[in-house]
Amino acid sequence: ELPSEVTIWEVGARDGLQNESNVVPVGVKLEFLDRMASSGLSVLEATSFVHPKWVPQLADAAELLAGLEQRPGVSYPVLVPNERGLDRALEAGVTHIAIFASATETFASRNLNRTLDSQFEMFEPVVSRARAEGLDVRGYVSMCFGDPWEGAVPREQVVAVGRRLLDMGCSQLSLGDTIGVATPGQVEALLDAFGDVSSLAVHFHDTYGQALSNTLAALRRGVTTVDSSAGGLGGCPYAESATGNLATEDLVWMLDGLGVKHGVDLDQLVATSAWMAEQLGRPSPSRVVRALT
Ligand code: HMG
Ligand code: MG
Repeated sequence: ELPSEVTIWEVGARDGLQNESNVVPVGVKLEFLDRMASSGLSVLEATSFVHPKWVPQLADAAELLAGLEQRPGVSYPVLVPNERGLDRALEAGVTHIAIFASATETFASRNLNRTLDSQFEMFEPVVSRARAEGLDVRGYVSMCFGDPWEGAVPREQVVAVGRRLLDMGCSQLSLGDTIGVATPGQVEALLDAFGDVSSLAVHFHDTYGQALSNTLAALRRGVTTVDSSAGGLGGCPYAESATGNLATEDLVWMLDGLGVKHGVDLDQLVATSAWMAEQLGRPSPSRVVRALT
């Protein structure tokens, strides 16, 4: 019923840090990425090539990639919203990108300065050019369950946005509960509405403490890629009430208990998150990090 193995898509260096108001030095970010790779994580979302004024924390994306020692077997996807971002990402030599769409009108406007419809015009040339360059492209859908301005989000609307991204050429779709309001029954219903889950990943924020339950529901529906953030860092600066992502340590603890393979050394990752918490000057919100330190 459960998959035998899960890919953890680690977003700590991107989603985890993008909401931090004090700019973390690029050297600390590089050490964070390196330590996470050492702990066995094989997908490390590294940064974003968005407008530097929109997310000042990640304005150092080019410098970060220039200093990054990419390890064999590890991929380092980056967020790219538009062609200008793609130009910058290509210049930096990236091989994996992710575009990020909104399932709602309000968040498309707030996060992308576009309408729900016109976001696709922005993404289309990004995906086609990226694919022509041989890059792998993931598509995110944000506000899949609830939106702070619009409330509950109709499932058909989420599926329609997701299908457009897949049709455009995204190899994987990550379903985002940006503000962490979903509960497991809603997760099951959305996955069922998509039908085929083979190209789906899940991306839960833990605002209401449901991220792990939601993840388990998704695993039982056959999802094998789960997004999480070391130490439970995270949030979106353009989404009211968004808090940290599902903590990678909490995920790993559950997967270990279930006997699902993931490839991560928990002690090493906990030590990394404890170190990162010191850098940020506040304790990790992850229950497992707190229990093990
Ligand atoms: P815009 O202001 O509409 O941009 O922003 P524009 O296309 O009108 O361009 C205006 C100027 O910005 C131009 O410069 C462009 O060159 C420049 P000018 O000609 O005036 O001198 N520009 C750029 N410069 C550098 N890099 C770029 C770039 N693009 C334009 N990429 C834009 C539109 C999409 C750029 C902006 O809204 C933006 O950067 N948004 C990103 C917001 C963001 O990063 N949010 C967080 C990530 S999403 C998330 O966290 C959710 C997720 O985790 C899943 C979940 O939890 O649900 C993924
Ligand atoms: Mg997120």
